[in-house]
Amino acid sequence: MILVTTAGKVGSEAVRLLAQRQVPVRVLVRDPEKAKALADAGAEIAVGDLDVPASIDEAMSGVTAVVLVSQAVPAQELNVVASAVSAGVEHVVKATSKASADSPIARRRGQTEIEAGLAASGLAHTLLRSNAYMQNVLVLAPAIAKTSGFGSSAGKGRTGMVDARDVGAVAAEIAASPVPHAGKTYWLTGPELISNYDVAAVLSKLLGRTITYRELSFDEDKNTMIRAGVPELIAQMNAQAFFLTAGGDAEWVSEDVESLLGRPARSFEQFATDHVTAFS
Ligand SMILES: NC(=O)c1ccc[n+]([C@@H]2O[C@H](COP(=O)([O-])OP(=O)(O)OC[C@H]3O[C@@H](n4cnc5c(N)ncnc54)[C@H](OP(=O)(O)O)[C@@H]3O)[C@@H](O)[C@H]2O)c1
Repeated sequence: MILVTTAGKVGSEAVRLLAQRQVPVRVLVRDPEKAKALADAGAEIAVGDLDVPASIDEAMSGVTAVVLVSQAVPAQELNVVASAVSAGVEHVVKATSKASADSPIARRRGQTEIEAGLAASGLAHTLLRSNAYMQNVLVLAPAIAKTSGFGSSAGKGRTGMVDARDVGAVAAEIAASPVPHAGKTYWLTGPELISNYDVAAVLSKLLGRTITYRELSFDEDKNTMIRAGVPELIAQMNAQAFFLTAGGDAEWVSEDVESLLGRPARSFEQFATDHVTAFS
């Protein structure tokens, strides 16, 4: 049995693909209503909360591999690691980012703390170190649909954006046959480096109208996110990440998705085509 710790962007795709392959899979969710499609696809649903260790222990029963993906709150993911050790889990596939202990971005420091806890646990594990998810652009979709424009403090910076569905597919692949991947770190990206000017050009082509990108300052970007309802701390971390992107921090691509899945990583154009109605 494989346990996937959340049914977010990455987790739901990993669960869907494992269920499709008839691999026994269980997903931990707070609200089973949101996981109906996964239950219909054949996944077991464990109702729990990553802040409640007893609920994680219950979900861990009979589990051999874990896909550890969440919003990367160290206490929550370290609860999962402790539970996996007690249950004798054989392998953990951890979704992470370009983490470092001295990053100005709190969530990247948090990822480092989780990775250190996982390493210290002695569990065999694999790290999926992803570049920014294409799905982040969906947050801008309502504004793009309404104003035909969007702004960011990422400047002209380019990103090796990856489709979160590909991250989920890699997680599923490794969790299903983990042994050759123990101790490995994969750098997951899409096939190309793209800037927000490229995002605007792709959307303009698909939508048949001009979508305009505006470069924002750090404060403009953060305040726009707060006005759109993003909690201040998250807006701060997002703006910090975009600001680093402007300086080239996200300018990396790898072929790991293709070599692990045996097919090319999805391009931004493919992603935008699949989600075109959100921007229309
Ligand atoms: N976004 C990016 O560009 C990016 C890039 C690289 C790496 N990453 C990494 O990817 C990971 C996030 O993955 P994702 O985008 O798939 O996440 P996501 O879509 O934001 O999903 C997070 C899930 O966590 C659940 N959740 C929140 N609090 C919970 C709790 N206390 N107990 C149980 N479930 C809880 C949420 O469920 P509810 O429906 O109950 O709220 C939601 O389904 C992070 O480690 C992040 O650092 C992200």
